[in-house]
Amino acid sequence: MNTLTLAHYYTTLDVQAMADYVGDSLELALIAQREKADRIVFAGVKFMAETTKIINPGTQVILPDETSTCSLVTQTDMDALKQWREQYSDHVHVSYINSSAEHKTISDWIVTSRNVDDIIAELYAQGEKVIFSPDRNMGAYLNYQYGYDMPVWNAVCEVHDKFKDEQITYMMDNARAEGNVYLLAHPESPLPVLKQADFVGSTKQMLDWVKDFNGEAHTVFIATEEGLLHNMRQLRADINLQLAPIYSGCQCNACPYMKRNTVELVKKAQQGIGFEINYLDEDTISKAVKPIKRMLAFSKKQMEKNVT
Ligand code: 13P
Ligand code: SF4
Repeated sequence: MNTLTLAHYYTTLDVQAMADYVGDSLELALIAQREKADRIVFAGVKFMAETTKIINPGTQVILPDETSTCSLVTQTDMDALKQWREQYSDHVHVSYINSSAEHKTISDWIVTSRNVDDIIAELYAQGEKVIFSPDRNMGAYLNYQYGYDMPVWNAVCEVHDKFKDEQITYMMDNARAEGNVYLLAHPESPLPVLKQADFVGSTKQMLDWVKDFNGEAHTVFIATEEGLLHNMRQLRADINLQLAPIYSGCQCNACPYMKRNTVELVKKAQQGIGFEINYLDEDTISKAVKPIKRMLAFSKKQMEKNVT
């Protein structure tokens, strides 16, 4: 049995060491589409494993822990979402990949934190009207940053939503007395935090920012799940990287769902024991795959253009 193990950056370094590939949501979805395997173990959360199954319906896909969900999924009531979508039947529905399989069936485009800006820009350039779900913070940021008027669904990432602009300002001001200070933030963070950020991007984009940084920095604050800091510190031990503070002032912020991927559970999943994604019916898969493949094709094309 040929088993492929994928891990997201928010899993522990021990778990990442067990994986064939570690990446952000876009990278992992592209790898899941490209690689051939009999079994894929997804050390991440349920929507990521479901996306993998939708792309590869013939492959056994295993999530190590059944309860690895995401607040953007659990805060979205599907009946209410369907009604909202019908209200805007002349709009293109763009949904963040952090959504259930059913949610994807009523979406025209799926986006990740890495390609959301470009995909929505393209839709506006084509003269489309757009609605965005489910991430309220990401939607507010896009509307603010580009002057869009997208109606936005109201769910948040319970981890990123904890970052607090006042606490961040306070710590950045203190550090600024000593030298240059930067803030990198994931677009799931609240708008007042994103407005202060020097760079907004996906986990992988923030990692690349740190890897390629060649300026002078006293401190680089990072507003995302704390797991990514370990990857950043491995790459650049010379930079003072600090997690941005949350509302309590604590520089601590872990995703409880990602952390359910323990070494023991991932080992079991690699042996075929875990939560198998085998409950999606054909109709769901055939509808959900369209907006996902549209997004993957868009990003592949962009990546090819950047290479040449
Ligand atoms: P990325 O696609 O940026 O890795 O984000 C996934 C995620 O769940 C962030 O909370
Ligand atoms: Fe979901 Fe937030 Fe956890 Fe990412 S960090 S999986 S968005 S709850």
